[in-house]
Amino acid sequence: MTKIALVTGAGSGIGRATAQLLADRGFGVITTYHRNPADHVSLPLDVADTSTFPAFAAGVRSALQEHWQRDTLDYLVNNAGIGGPSPFQTTTDEAYERYHRTLLKGPFFLTQALLPLLNPQGAIVNVGSSSTRPGVTTPGYAAYAAMKGGMDMLTRYLAKELAPIRVNAVSPGPTRTNLGDGGFEKYPEFIPPIVAETTLDRLGESDDVGKAIAALLSDDLKWITGEVIEVSGGYKL
Ligand SMILES: NC(=O)c1ccc[n+]([C@@H]2O[C@H](COP(=O)([O-])OP(=O)(O)OC[C@H]3O[C@@H](n4cnc5c(N)ncnc54)[C@H](OP(=O)(O)O)[C@@H]3O)[C@@H](O)[C@H]2O)c1
Repeated sequence: MTKIALVTGAGSGIGRATAQLLADRGFGVITTYHRNPADHVSLPLDVADTSTFPAFAAGVRSALQEHWQRDTLDYLVNNAGIGGPSPFQTTTDEAYERYHRTLLKGPFFLTQALLPLLNPQGAIVNVGSSSTRPGVTTPGYAAYAAMKGGMDMLTRYLAKELAPIRVNAVSPGPTRTNLGDGGFEKYPEFIPPIVAETTLDRLGESDDVGKAIAALLSDDLKWITGEVIEVSGGYKL
């Protein structure tokens, strides 16, 4: 039977690459879009607004029926996110809340809302960040990394609580996407110093991370759960 995956934030970057890769491998794919429309079967979602999740879950249920005559999803990729620095001393309550609602509270309650649709033999991949790793403590990322650290911990606890659904996370290193309003495109001078600190000697691409996510979803890695795996080409190794 066709495996069906839902990928949040698939209008660009890592989410788009993951959705395309899964579709190319024969998965049924439901994507969500926020500002920029995505391909595939695509539903609007603001992951920062939990009040919309019951209606979103109902939309997923209808899409499963309409496109695959199914009642269940096999895979969930909690990818949607925002980035960019916010120095600790000037981070406002509002900015903190935005990171929290988008990067931690949203995925927490979205997973809860979609749980009744998830195949017990299925898998979840959360997208964290290498900013939580020892040695990758970049000034300006306290709020962002605190949320991503929460995501790592949530991954471990969900793996326990939702078993036999497998739950893992990837921690991408610097990856060429639109994150932080296209920071790498706007400020190409940021790239060489990052490459200089990356063991495999280049910037990450969305596809590098998408392939790792697809691998974690696949049965080849079915004995792995509760893990947070860095996908960074050895950034600051
Ligand atoms: N790129 C990196 O260097 C890097 C490193 C570590 C971790 N990550 C993580 O990777 C994930 C994907 O980011 P990316 O790098 O691929 O950046 P991206 O190209 O900016 O993609 C982010 C996606 O998330 C969506 N999104 C943002 N806010 C949303 C909201 N409130 N509700 C629903 N969707 C929302 C965006 O949709 P719209 O465009 O429609 O708003 C977009 O599709 C994020 O969780 C990010 O923290 C990225």
